[in-house]
Amino acid sequence: MKGEYHLPVHTKDEFGNEYIQVGREFHPMSAEHHIDFIQMISQDGMTAQIKFLKVGDTPKIKTIQDYGDYIAREHCNIHGLWANLITRDKS
Ligand SMILES: [Fe+2]
Repeated sequence: MKGEYHLPVHTKDEFGNEYIQVGREFHPMSAEHHIDFIQMISQDGMTAQIKFLKVGDTPKIKTIQDYGDYIAREHCNIHGLWANLITRDKS
C-alpha cells in the first residue's frame, strides 16, 4: 500500500486557487483501482464538501470555501479511507 499516492495533499496555483489532490504523484484512476471521492470537512464538523470521481478523472478538486484548517479525506476502492489534516501555516 503506497502512502505517498494516497494521502490527500493541498496545492495552490499561481492564481491563488487552492486544491486537494490525491498524492503528490496522482493515484491511479483505472476501473480496477481508483479514488471514489475526495472530501473536505471543517474542523468543527459543520461544513463539508465532497466530489465523487469517475474512472479517468484526475484525482484533484478545487476548494470552493475557506475552511481554515480542515480534514481532507479520500476513499480508494482497494486501499480504503485516507485522511490528512490540512493546516494553513504548513501549506
Ligand atoms: Fe489505492
